[in-house]
Amino acid sequence: MTTAESPVENAYWVVVPAAGAGKRMGADKPKQYLPLNGKPLIAHTLGNILGWPGLKGIVVAIAADDTEFSTLDCAQDPRVQSVTGGVERADSVLAALEYLSERDVPEIPVLVHDAARPLVSTDDIQKLLAAGPMALLAQPASDTVKQSHSEDGREEVAQTLPRNRIWLAQTPQKAPLGKLREALQRGLKERPNAITDEASALELAGFHPELVAACRSNFKITHPADLILAEALLQHRAVTSSLENNL
Ligand code: CTP
Ligand code: MG
Repeated sequence: MTTAESPVENAYWVVVPAAGAGKRMGADKPKQYLPLNGKPLIAHTLGNILGWPGLKGIVVAIAADDTEFSTLDCAQDPRVQSVTGGVERADSVLAALEYLSERDVPEIPVLVHDAARPLVSTDDIQKLLAAGPMALLAQPASDTVKQSHSEDGREEVAQTLPRNRIWLAQTPQKAPLGKLREALQRGLKERPNAITDEASALELAGFHPELVAACRSNFKITHPADLILAEALLQHRAVTSSLENNL
């Protein structure tokens, strides 16, 4: 049983922000409902999460005018709840954290995972769960990294940054419920434009979340080409299950 003093060891909630419009995808509906290998993208993501070890439940933040979520098979699973999201991703995450705060202790770990990342591997989830109390999956930069400045309306190279310390933040991002909620509330009030993920709010609050290297399949479906790549990877996994966690 969970008490304020001792949350069940290894148990955690997952918050899934899924209230975005998918503008960069340019489709006729939000990208989380676009078909991927015959079922909606978000159904892959939620189906994946429902298989993670130690999961207590999932809170999905959906748009106020969403009419599709409740029709999904995975939305009928008793471990899946939904709340109404907000204008920005951070508002959607915060709405789910407020919901959880009324139902669980502040120490319980929460993993926030984008609806648009259906291909995160179970190996990477195990690594994230084994990491420190605040941690996130991230991709070490593989290209040479340039910082730019603007000159006569053109972007030009200002400098090349040392690549070995550059990481591209992904999800899931893990933190205790109470600390994450406080950090997001404060960050949204003080520097809303700087809060683009959970870690940025925690950083503003003085924490240093641990970076856990993720395999390359954990990209966010953002542009039309990403859907094609995701389809190809899913088809590949279907025939080559031994490679499942290496792509
Ligand atoms: N998201 C959300 N609430 C918002 C904005 C985004 O829950 N107000 C969710 C998206 O549904 C997505 C995740 O946050 O699962 C990551 O955001 P992003 O990839 O930027 O998705 P969209 O905002 O939908 O896409 P775009 O920025 O291209 O409009
Ligand atoms: Mg967005």
